[in-house]
This record gives sequence, structure tokens and C-alpha cells, in this order.
Amino acid sequence: MFKPAGTVPIGIFDSGVGGLSVWKEAIKILPGHNFIYFADSAYSPYGPRSEEEIVERSAKITEFFISQGVGMVIIACNTATSAAIAPLRERFAIPFIGMEPAVKPAAALTKSGVIGVLATKGTLSGRLYNRTLNLFASDVKVVEVVGTGLVPLVESGKTSGKEVEDLLEKYISPMVDMGADYIVLGCTHYPFLRDAIQKIAGESVTLLDPAPAVARHMYKVAKENKLIDPIGRDNILGVNLYKSCYMDTQFFSSGSTAILERMARKVIPEIPDSCFKSKRLT
Ligand code: DGL
Repeated sequence: MFKPAGTVPIGIFDSGVGGLSVWKEAIKILPGHNFIYFADSAYSPYGPRSEEEIVERSAKITEFFISQGVGMVIIACNTATSAAIAPLRERFAIPFIGMEPAVKPAAALTKSGVIGVLATKGTLSGRLYNRTLNLFASDVKVVEVVGTGLVPLVESGKTSGKEVEDLLEKYISPMVDMGADYIVLGCTHYPFLRDAIQKIAGESVTLLDPAPAVARHMYKVAKENKLIDPIGRDNILGVNLYKSCYMDTQFFSSGSTAILERMARKVIPEIPDSCFKSKRLT
């Protein structure tokens, strides 16, 4: 596919396939752009890992991205953002954008005064999240729940069915029982469970996923850093050729690519096998 001069690839990584929920929004905004997606599946889940380990993995992935010509990184993982965005910014001279649970809009929009936050232990105990809570959610009741076991379910390709619903019931029902009318999906894997979560929470509860806002922010930062074609051909190409833009993302996994292929093809079914590669990064 024709690539206008001046477009620089954008790297997106996560502990596994969860960051595809961010990639999906990113390609809506820059459909003709080159993306490189890295799933650190051999080290998933990040949630129970130490901050040091997550920083080390994130730095290795960033080095790989830079070797591929990447000019900006989206940390499409709340847990890795919390642990690693500051050290990555110190160490590498390219822009990083990260995830943050959508607590601010939830706190602003709630009518019941109760919001639920479903995230990993690493995210909920992190400085970033707790700073956001203090700044924006001090007036509302926040029901925090650690989604233990959900990331491995998504990583094994299970996004619906009894096993998923039984586990979600344990996590979501207490939030609803306590009156939550907004539930923040604080992990990029959870949008894949959206239907099951909505079924348990009921239609009156709104689920908030920060991915669309992160994708808009990506566009702004990419433009400021001159990573996209100055006359906007990234967009024009994408509008015209949306169906074939899968050619512009290369997918890597530190483990097997099987689930990555399956989940990415839920977004764009035609992605060819040649776009998926294993890359151990030890
Ligand atoms: N998608 C990651 C996040 O947003 C998953 C964390 C994990 O691997 O435990 O937090």
C-alpha cells in the first residue's frame, strides 16, 4: 500500500491482547497509519508482577519499537502505565501516552454518587490512580474491585459463557448492589468482556472505557510531533481504504500469536497471517 513520506510508525503495547481495544480506536482515527502492536503474552498478566519487572519489560518493548522506527508509544495497559510511564519518559526521548481509568468522567457524571472501578491490583494501588481519585473523586463513593482472573480468561480467548459470567457476577454485583450507576473499565482487557459485564450490571449502568479518549489524545500528540502526514493523507487514505488498512499494522507477541490473531481478527477479519510474528524479547 502507498505510504506518504513523513509518516512514522506508532507502537502500542500491552501485557497481551487487551491493548487491541485501544488499537481498535487508534485505527479509527488514523486508519492509514503504520502501527506496531506488541503483546507481551509470555509475561501476561502484569497485574501480579512487581513494578521493577513491569518497567524492565516495558523498556525492552520500547527498545524493540525504536529498532523498528517507532516515533511514539501508546502504553495500552493501565498496569504498565502506572508502573512504567515515568521511568520510560526519563529514559527514552520519544513521546509516551498511557492509560488511566476513567474515574474523572465517572465522578462528574454519576447521579447516584457511587461509581465502580474494576482494575488490576497494580493499577488500584498505583500512584497515578490514587492521585486521580484524590483530585476528582473525593466527593463520590468509589467501589474498587480487583478483577482477578479476568485477564487470563481474555488471554485464553474466553470473552463470554458461564465461566466468564460466574467470575464477573462476583465482581460486578457488589458494585451494583452498592448503587453504582457508572462502572469504569480500568484494564484494557475488560472492553472485550463488555457484553457480559453489561448483562450483569443491567442497562441502567453505564460502562466507561477510556480508549476513545486515548486515541484522540494520540492524534494530538502524533500531530504535534510531526508523526503523521502533514496534509492529512493518513486520514484520507484510511477513509478511502479502511477495509484494507490492516496492512498497516504489524502484530508481535512474545508468546504464541494464536489468541492475538483471533482477537485482532474480531476487529478486522481479513488480516493476513504474514502480519503476525512471535518475538521473544528476553
Ligand atoms: N491490559 C492490562 C491493563 O490494562 C492488563 C494487566 C495485566 O496483564 O494484568 O491493566
